[in-house]
Amino acid sequence: MQNSVLIEKDLYYVGGSDRRIPLFESAYPVPRGVSYNSYLLLDEKTALFDTVDKSVSEVFFENVESVLGGRNLDYLVIHHMEPDHSASFEGIVSRYPNVKVVVNQKIAAMLKNFFSCDLPELIIVKDGDTLSFGKHTHRFVFAPMVHWPEVMLSFDETTGTLFSADAFGTFGALSGSLFADEVEFEKEFLDDARRYYFNIVGKYGVQVQNVLKKAATLPIKTVCPLHGPVWRKDFSWFLNKYDIWSKYEPEEKGVAVYFASIYGHTGNAAEILATALAENGVPVKTYDTSFTHYSELLSEAFRYSHVVFAAPTYNNGIFVSMEQFLNELVSHNYQNRAFALIENGSWAPQANKLMREKLASLKGMREIGEGVTMLSSVKEDSKEKLYRLAKDIALDLTK
Ligand code: FEO
Repeated sequence: MQNSVLIEKDLYYVGGSDRRIPLFESAYPVPRGVSYNSYLLLDEKTALFDTVDKSVSEVFFENVESVLGGRNLDYLVIHHMEPDHSASFEGIVSRYPNVKVVVNQKIAAMLKNFFSCDLPELIIVKDGDTLSFGKHTHRFVFAPMVHWPEVMLSFDETTGTLFSADAFGTFGALSGSLFADEVEFEKEFLDDARRYYFNIVGKYGVQVQNVLKKAATLPIKTVCPLHGPVWRKDFSWFLNKYDIWSKYEPEEKGVAVYFASIYGHTGNAAEILATALAENGVPVKTYDTSFTHYSELLSEAFRYSHVVFAAPTYNNGIFVSMEQFLNELVSHNYQNRAFALIENGSWAPQANKLMREKLASLKGMREIGEGVTMLSSVKEDSKEKLYRLAKDIALDLTK
């Protein structure tokens, strides 16, 4: 049965939420599910903005049919071709064969690669072009690499509504309330929004900054992303988060302590350091890289100003889960943080040297201290070094 929501005059939400999906993109755990947003405008012409993932296509098709109320669908605007938004394209074309599909050149090429059906009439737009649906005129704003190269946004110049594609989206199903001002977004969604941002588009901070500069020139009143709640109040608060995140600046002063530990000794060192940091008044969070998903490890590393990596030496390298995590940081353009290192090795400690080499490839990374080395387990001398390191980090945080 249809389940659509009126957003503002003429504009309806016609997407749906999937709470059964275990891994978004087969990679990211989404225990709170995810929404696939689609929007339908009823003007002199009717226009659908993006489709949805196959998992919610049934309610989506019912929503579209219900909101159209017997009218034909005149336009389908595709902002982003990733299948979580385009998978129901053929279903729309088969139901509304006279629909005109509004795309850019890159989207047109991808349509032919993804689908085998006869394509309907395509309207190709360029960056800055406008298209009128009657009272509502949309301006198209290209946003390459936020998150794929073909991505474009569109801005309803009549109402000030921005259709922002993946930008300003979040993991987490909608729980009845469509609007960000109807939920406690900071408490309920911010961690998921941060994890979504850094894992999905975090690598492309420069491109996100370019979009934010374009957005700053638009009188935005409402933001309709492809995932998560719609913004109609206090959007500047979330925009500021995006500004911080895409500049690779820390969101909070504090320390994320990451450890990998085979039998618990390296973990013991990390916990001693974390306790000492807390005793020095430092906000600290501690993660075992073998037991926390890398998508969360990654977003927390971007969140904090300081990070500590503690790892055993393993096969003359870095222990597996820590090496994988560091590789994720490198591939997501991690940068501009202070870090400290702790290594363990029962006969030939190598982890600090190897971790330092990985971090050296990143921009703006600054090491605090010279790295703590322990042989097999924490002893009085290494405990003293951990206490000293905690003091050095605490002091650095006051700068
Ligand atoms: Fe939600 Fe890049 O797709």
